[in-house]
Amino acid sequence: MKSTLYAAAACFLLLGCRTGTVDQKPKSFSSFDSEAKALVARMTLEEKLGQMTQPEQGPVMASPGDMQKYFIGSVLSGGDSDPQEGNTLEAWTDLYDRVQTEAMKTRFGIPVLYGVDAVHGHSNVLGAVIFPHNIALGCTRDPELVEKINRITAAEVRATGIQWTFSPCVAVPQDIRWGRTYEGFSEDPELVATLGEAAVRGLQGNLGDPLSVLACAKHFVGDGGTAPSALPIPGAPAAPGARLWLDRGDMRVDESTLRRIHLPGYVAAIRAGVGSIMPSYSSWNGVKCTGSHRLLTEILKQELGFEGFLISDYNAIAEIRPDDYKTSVEIAVNAGIDMAMETSHYRRFFDTLKELVDEGRVPMARIDDAVTRILRVKFAMGLMDKGRSQLADRKLHQVFGSDAHRAVAREAVRKSLVLLKNESRALPISKQAARIHVAGKSADDIGNQCGGWTIRWQGQGGEVTPGGTTVLAAIRSSVSPATRVTYSRDGTGAEGAVVAVAVIGEKPYAEGVGDRDDLGLDPEDRATVANLKKARIPVVTLVISGRPMILGDVLGQSDALLAAFLPGTEGRGITDVLFGDYKPTGKLSFSWPRANGQLPLNIHAPEELYDPLFRCGHGLTW
Ligand code: GLC
Repeated sequence: MKSTLYAAAACFLLLGCRTGTVDQKPKSFSSFDSEAKALVARMTLEEKLGQMTQPEQGPVMASPGDMQKYFIGSVLSGGDSDPQEGNTLEAWTDLYDRVQTEAMKTRFGIPVLYGVDAVHGHSNVLGAVIFPHNIALGCTRDPELVEKINRITAAEVRATGIQWTFSPCVAVPQDIRWGRTYEGFSEDPELVATLGEAAVRGLQGNLGDPLSVLACAKHFVGDGGTAPSALPIPGAPAAPGARLWLDRGDMRVDESTLRRIHLPGYVAAIRAGVGSIMPSYSSWNGVKCTGSHRLLTEILKQELGFEGFLISDYNAIAEIRPDDYKTSVEIAVNAGIDMAMETSHYRRFFDTLKELVDEGRVPMARIDDAVTRILRVKFAMGLMDKGRSQLADRKLHQVFGSDAHRAVAREAVRKSLVLLKNESRALPISKQAARIHVAGKSADDIGNQCGGWTIRWQGQGGEVTPGGTTVLAAIRSSVSPATRVTYSRDGTGAEGAVVAVAVIGEKPYAEGVGDRDDLGLDPEDRATVANLKKARIPVVTLVISGRPMILGDVLGQSDALLAAFLPGTEGRGITDVLFGDYKPTGKLSFSWPRANGQLPLNIHAPEELYDPLFRCGHGLTW
């Protein structure tokens, strides 16, 4: 009985409001200065450097004594960094507890911040609810929903003990050929700011709340504004045979453009009290963001008053001077990097920074500032409360992947669907139809529904995680008992059905691996729809992709067409609209081009050049 009450209470906590502390404006991090500075004053240089050093869990837990030897203050699980015991809720929770236990064996017993990419739910962990990626949430234009989603994400992250997520991404992608387009809410800076602020509120709430996690606005700044390159960009992952590179590239704009398009998400995140920000791998006019004093200290910390700490991206520091790691560390830390995500190179970073301080190339004042920033966030989060356990609260396992969470994800899918075409009343489909034929490579594929950053860094097709519902399964569970639902991946055999539903689009990818010079639908998708068209029945096409695609003949061959982008595990949110239980309300978060030749194409183009197939903000209903 008690556990049921707890689960109910926890769900109420997440869905309605937080109990205990009333939501109020978050205390500023500087209000914890006295405690933080008092501790810094007692710390040795090595203890300070440890707070600035973030290894990945695999390498450091292979030598757990390093947690004490290097006084490690933070650990991450990046993509594909699962517990060695396997990818289960228990194994993740055990891993967190092991890391925390090792960390607290040091003199001051300062707990680690454990970071993970919970970018659309706790998306590394099997069984977590996988929400739509940000590109789809942008189509809802619903900050309250985005806040609720992030509150649930925070609880599922906390269920594993972990207290930090490297999200929200507040990139403003300007060229949808970029492989990280789907991590952005929109090409519209105002929409990014509104939803980014809501995400931070949802994740952090009142930061000392045990159901809150530290948020991390990323990637500062202009990661979505880089110029396309015909040559590979050093360090950027790329797909085999790539012919265009954008990820980690160079943004060549003046400062007023940077401020107008790429800064609003950070101003909003800081207003919401974000405690960490991640500088971008990319460059601004040839200067790596990770090493830019202008960006990190003068603009972000001094002008915008950011009081949290800066965490470098995954081994990004070494990219500043690829041939001179020591100078890279000197530039990065002096520019304003406070914590270094150095993964398996954590010993090299620690030793190099110590040398730089001993040689006077990095002043102790900079070290003290960085450690003060990190510690005051830990104080604000309650990590330093001696009377409070820093191990995982396993009672939260009851809410992990719960039906209540899935219901919110289903709502998000519904509200993110964008109806782009609906002729001859192809939609909504009757649940009493005699026969519905379903087709397409993504009709029965949870992995394709979820996209990248799902269980695997790059994501993967197929049954990538349990507990979800594919579009085909959702259709089958929605129709009347008398309705026949048939399926063929290639679209053949549809003759005689009342209507055909094609589910097509992109296979999963992440980061530069998704950079593409050609956004045309693949030949398999085009053949699928063409085969359905031959059956001479209405065709409803659903595009599941990380960005708008060049539709070609598919648009004309479809009587109705919807964009789902990357909806995640809850496919029933799609059938809620297909069968008319809910009207479509989504509005495009990105401009939808007619042809590759128009790219890059966004709302910042001169009006006379702005000629998309569907405008940003477009969406039909009935
Ligand atoms: C990646 C990404 C960043 C992520 C980090 C940790 O390379 O650029 O978004 O948070 O590494 O996984």
